[in-house]
Order: sequence, then structure tokens, then C-alpha cells
Amino acid sequence: MDKLVIKGGTPLRGEVHVSGAKNAAVAIIPATILAGGPCLLENIPDISDVYTLYDMLSLMGATVRVVSRTSVFIDTSNITSHKVPEDLARQLRASYYFLGALLGRCNEANVPLPGGCDFGVRPIDQHIKGFEALGADVNIGHGSVSISTEGLLGSHIYFDVVSVGATINVMLAAVKAKGLTVLENVAKEPHIVDLANFLNSLGADIRGAGTDVIKIHGVEKLHGANYSIIPDQIEAGTYMVAAAATKGNVLIRGVIPKHLEAITEKLVKTGASVVEYDDAVRVSGEVDHFEHVNVKTMPYPGFPTDMQPQMTTLLALARGTSIVTEGVWDNRFKYISELCRMGASISVDGKVAVIQGVESLSGACVRAADLRAGAAMVIAGLAANGKTEIEDIHHIERGYTNLVDKLRGLGAEIDRVSVPEGSSMYSVV
Ligand code: EPU
Repeated sequence: MDKLVIKGGTPLRGEVHVSGAKNAAVAIIPATILAGGPCLLENIPDISDVYTLYDMLSLMGATVRVVSRTSVFIDTSNITSHKVPEDLARQLRASYYFLGALLGRCNEANVPLPGGCDFGVRPIDQHIKGFEALGADVNIGHGSVSISTEGLLGSHIYFDVVSVGATINVMLAAVKAKGLTVLENVAKEPHIVDLANFLNSLGADIRGAGTDVIKIHGVEKLHGANYSIIPDQIEAGTYMVAAAATKGNVLIRGVIPKHLEAITEKLVKTGASVVEYDDAVRVSGEVDHFEHVNVKTMPYPGFPTDMQPQMTTLLALARGTSIVTEGVWDNRFKYISELCRMGASISVDGKVAVIQGVESLSGACVRAADLRAGAAMVIAGLAANGKTEIEDIHHIERGYTNLVDKLRGLGAEIDRVSVPEGSSMYSVV
């Protein structure tokens, strides 16, 4: 029953440091299975998805020692199981990366169909296509995916859709497959490149990550390594939009500005100012009003779908009509009704949201429909007049490290409160 309570209207000011990338970490942690030796991972985000993956690895027999809030020692040499427990798997999408990792290591895997944010149907046909092309038998039944093989063989695979998950999963499986695997029409997100770099640090031979074609020469053995995860593009983008929407001025440190270009470009079009440094960006929203902008989400290097709800929230406060088209997911506008409760004027038709900008938002009780929708509610609450209460914050905690502390460090009036059952008294925790 925990909630976030925000008193809005304070411009964010100061500096914030971005944590390690969630969507890289949730691929790299399962990938340690392929190492079969000790790995020290650094710059890990302090988020619940990461702890769920540690629990899964531990239950499979791996040694997992949390060294600090940002680093973990994982040794998978003694894993005893190729099965992932159902209750944990259903908590996040990335549990399906155990399919590729276990297949590569043990020639078999049994993983419950994954959970994750609800954006409508989330098929895994491209993952299966890839596994089968490498020589695996795939069976889906009783809510689980079972895969086995006599031995994986390199293959030429053309993905029908650009999929982050399928690119990662098939890359994991192919690392130890015999011969050459060529993956075409792959995703190019920064976390794909980060995973390939991690696997190469274990002794894999992967080239082309970050382009449309990835070539993998299978190797017989991998080994442990130390590896530091890249900064989170979406966490950085969320603070960029929050700085602008509150008409604040924030230096966002520890980022790779190149990964933020699509977000920067749209922010600048709204009239916000973005100054890039080597590993930081400064965003200022100190303008009289924001201009309307059209946005279409696309795979990287396009505008990220995981920034769509946050950007829509800013555009709700821009002068004129903005059109936001969701180009990746079928149903990622569920949060719009919550924004409208706060005074936004937005209509949705399928994958298109038409936003008539309003002068201001007003605080209300809303819920986080999913992770990034929750981030959008936080931005709306920070920019709104009055008090906003956000429920279902477990979604937000899946992906944002120390959100409350980081925002307080920027001057926000935000508390995480627990509401005991049957009580109306808030207690700040
Ligand atoms: N798709 C298929 N078949 C497949 C796989 C995907 O048709 O086998 C379709 C999907 O339905 C969707 C599109 O391809 O329309 C893209 O899906 P993708 O596989 O790229 O998404 P994902 O791997 O399930 C990851 C992120 C999401 C992010 C998307 C797109 C992780 C754990 N999740 O999901 O992140 O929205 O890529 O960039 O990496 C988030 O962090 O909030 C989040 C939801």
C-alpha cells in the first residue's frame, strides 16, 4: 500500500547522478550463467528487478554476493538447475533471458512465460524462431517455455521485427553455438551493445552490435570477468524531462550524451535548453511556455518508447496541439486517463495520442499503471499545483534507483509513505 506523495510546483535545481542501465543489467545478470566462473558486476542499478534476478540465480545454485548497492559478485560455476521458479519469473520480462543463457550453457532450459509491463500482447515468436534456427526444440505448455538441444549450430537468422528481447536472447544462445551465427534486422539499443561487450569480456566473439547485423563466432568456453554497466538512458531522459517540466535547471551527470540525442532533440524543439558535456547534460526549462511537438517512438536510434509517457506529460503542458504516435507497442497509453485526472487534455485513438496543451496540471490521486507510466505520474506531480498521491509504486521501484532521494536532492517535495491497512494516517518511511 506504499504511495508517493508529492507537493508540486517547485522547479528542480541542482545535480543528479544517473545509475546503471536497468535494461542492460537485466540482460547481463542472466548472462553470467554463460561465464560459468566468477564475475564482478559494477554500476548495477539498485532496483527491485535486479534483486529478483539475484533470487532466481541463487535458487538455481549460483553464488550471489551483493558487495555494495552498485556491485555484485556472481559465480555460476555450480548451478544445479536449468529451471526458473514461476513466482519470480512472472515479476519481470527479463526472466526470459534465462532461456538463451541456459540453452547456451546447459543445452536445456525451462522458463515460465515472463511477466513485465502490460502493453497488450507481447509475443516471443522471434525468440523461438532464433532458438529453432540454432537447432533447439521449443515447447510451450502449462505456462512455461521448455527448450532443449543436442548441440547448437550457428545459423543465419533474419528477424521479422526489430526486437530488443529476441536480439539479446538469441545472441546469448549463439555465443557457444558451433560455427558462425549471423543475426540480421537486430535491435541497436545501447544495452544490446553493452551485453555484447560483456560477453566479449568473457571470451565471446561478437561483432557488429549497435548495427543492423551481428556476427557471432561460437566459442567453446567462456570465463569470468569484471564489468561495469553503462548509464541508464531512460533514467537520464526521465530527469531531463522532469527538469524541463518543472521549469527547473538540472545537471544530469554520468550519462552518455550520444544515447540521449533523440530525447535532446525533442526537448530542444519544445523550447527547453539542453547543453551537452562529455558525460553530463544540463537541462533547463526556464521558458515562458513550451512549444508543441510531434513525437513518434521507434527502435533506437529513434525516440525511445520507454520515454513516451514522460514526454507526453511535458507536452500536456505545451502550447498548442502535439501528436504522439506509439510505434513500438500496441497499447502503451493506459496512463493517459490518469494524466487527464490531473487536468491534461489528451485523446487517444489506437496508437496515437492527441494532446491539447493546458496551462497547468493540478495534483490528484493517481496510480502508476506500469514502470514508465509511473515515472510520468511523478513528473506530472512535480509540475502540478498542489498535492499528488501515486499508488502502485512497486512498478516504479522496478526501474528507478533511489528516485525519492534523487528528487529530494533536486529540491522536490516528495515522500514515500506507507499506509497501514485500515488506517488513514500516513507515516513517512
Ligand atoms: N515483438 C514481436 N515478437 C517477438 C518479440 C517482440 O512481435 O518475439 C514485438 C513486440 O510486440 C513489440 C516490438 O516487437 O511490438 C518490440 O518488442 P521488444 O522485443 O523490442 O521489447 P522487449 O524486449 O520485450 C524491451 C525493454 C522494454 C522496451 C522495449 C522496446 C527490457 C527488459 N525491456 O522489451 O522496456 O519498451 O524493449 O525498447 O529490456 C521498460 O524498461 O520500461 C520497458 C518496458
